[in-house]
Order: sequence, then C-alpha cells, then structure tokens
Amino acid sequence: MKTISLLNLKGGVAKTTTGGNIAKGLANRGFKTLLIDTDMQANATSIFLEDERSKEDYKGFAELIVDEKLDDVDQYVYNVGENLDMIGSSLAVAESELKVRNSFNRNSSNIVKKVLKKLDSKYDYCIIDCAPTINLITLNIIIASDEIIIPIKIDKFALEGYRTTLKNINQIIDDYELDTEVIVLYTMVNRNNIDKQFIQEISGNRFETTIRHQAKPVTESALKNEVLIDSSKSSKVKDDYLNLIDEIVKRG
Ligand SMILES: Nc1ncnc2c1ncn2[C@@H]1O[C@H](COP(=O)(O)OP(=O)(O)OP(=O)(O)O)[C@@H](O)[C@H]1O
Ligand SMILES: [Mg+2]
Repeated sequence: MKTISLLNLKGGVAKTTTGGNIAKGLANRGFKTLLIDTDMQANATSIFLEDERSKEDYKGFAELIVDEKLDDVDQYVYNVGENLDMIGSSLAVAESELKVRNSFNRNSSNIVKKVLKKLDSKYDYCIIDCAPTINLITLNIIIASDEIIIPIKIDKFALEGYRTTLKNINQIIDDYELDTEVIVLYTMVNRNNIDKQFIQEISGNRFETTIRHQAKPVTESALKNEVLIDSSKSSKVKDDYLNLIDEIVKRG
C-alpha cells in the first residue's frame, strides 16, 4: 500500500478537493483505495459519509486513535463505493489529539503507522486529508506517509505557507529518519504571467499537472456531495484532475 497525504499549514488550498478526487479516481481505475479524513472540519467526510456520521454508533478517526484497537480496525472503516473505503472524521478529532498527547504510557507518534500496517494488505493506496495544522496528529501522518503532497494555491501568502510547511515536514523527516517524498501540486492556477512566474520560482519536486482555477464545476459537484471527476459535465478542471490521477498512477 502506498500512503499519500495532503498537507499544507495554509488553509483553503484544495487539500480536501484534491484528496477526494485522487481517492475516487484511483478507485475508479480499479485500485483498492482507503481515504482517511483526519480534519475535524470533516469536509471529505461530508461528501462520502454524510448519512453515517450522524448515526449514534459512528466511529471515525478520532475514536480509532484514542481506542487504538489494532485487532479490530475494520469497525472504523466504511465502504463508500466500488474499491473505495473510508475512515471518516468528526469534531471529536480536536479532543482526541489532546487525549493522545496526554497518554504518556504509549508511543503517541506512531499510532497511525501501526493502524495502516494492519490495513496494508487490503489496499493499493491510502489517501490522507489533513487539517491545516501541525500537531500530534499531523506528526503521526507524516511518519506514516510514503509521499506528502503540498497543494499550493498561488496568492500573497502562498510562499510563506509553503516554506513553513516544508520546514516542519523536513524537520520531522530528519528527526525520525524517514524517506518520505515531498511533492508540490499547484492548485487554483490562473493562466496568466503572475502564476507562470510563481510556478517557476519554487524549484524542486512538483507534479507536471497543475489544477486550474475554475470555481463553478468544483462548487457544483461539492454541493451535490460528489467528487468533480465523477461529474457528468465536462470541464477543464475535471480534465486536470484526471491528468493528475494518471501522473500518480505512473509514479507507481
Ligand atoms: N480548482 C479550483 N478552482 C476554484 N475553486 C476551487 C478549486 N479547488 C478548490 N476550490 C475551492 O476552494 C475552497 C477550498 O478548497 P478545499 O476545501 O479543498 O481546501 P482545503 O485546503 O482542504 O481547506 P482547509 O484548509 O479548510 O481544509 C473550496 O471552497 C473549494 O470549492
Ligand atoms: Mg480540507
């Protein structure tokens, strides 16, 4: 199983939109895929698990990391489509971070890694949507990831957000001696010179594909609780996401 996380300390850069489309896109292509929502905003959960999350017996990421019932991980996993399973989120994630942080009797930095090890043989890909923050949960996710995608939305604060995110990730990679790959994805790109120049300014590992700024199709599909790539309407931004999925599959 290859674990790919979407992380940027800056909010609103299309982490969730991208994570949902990648997960569904890989599943549509026949790859067994697990999507994990770790953000208490639960935006990805509201798209894929809207009905289940309001049920009394719903158990999501928060309960999973607090209980750490490694022999019964399946009770937190919901099937949300062909080849696609999900561990959802809820507001309880905020509290769970504190609980885990205060549990001195266990190694709280590799809980997610241990959970994913239990699920490793069932899936080809695991896609993790992160909150725009660095805390114990994010540390767990970085430690558990093979690849981290930093989505960048080009605006006045983009560079600062990118550099801070990269610095934090690299620090953790060094501290824990990880061989995690970090790769940039430009999202909400306008076809103008400012954006072209900006993209050239950040050197380093990045996806060839850039996702263009096109609000209408993205918003329309989100309102229908569907991911853009499943939309019956064609759009340039949908094509971009399909190209991105091709690129991810090619990277293996
Ligand atoms: N390609 C795009 N073109 C235009 N708008 C977009 C595009 N992708 C995402 N958006 C919009 O940008 C907003 C933020 O997207 P999204 O929720 O995916 O970001 P996020 O990084 O997950 O945010 P957060 O940090 O709050 O979790 C949403 O309103 C979404 O509809
Ligand atoms: Mg999000």
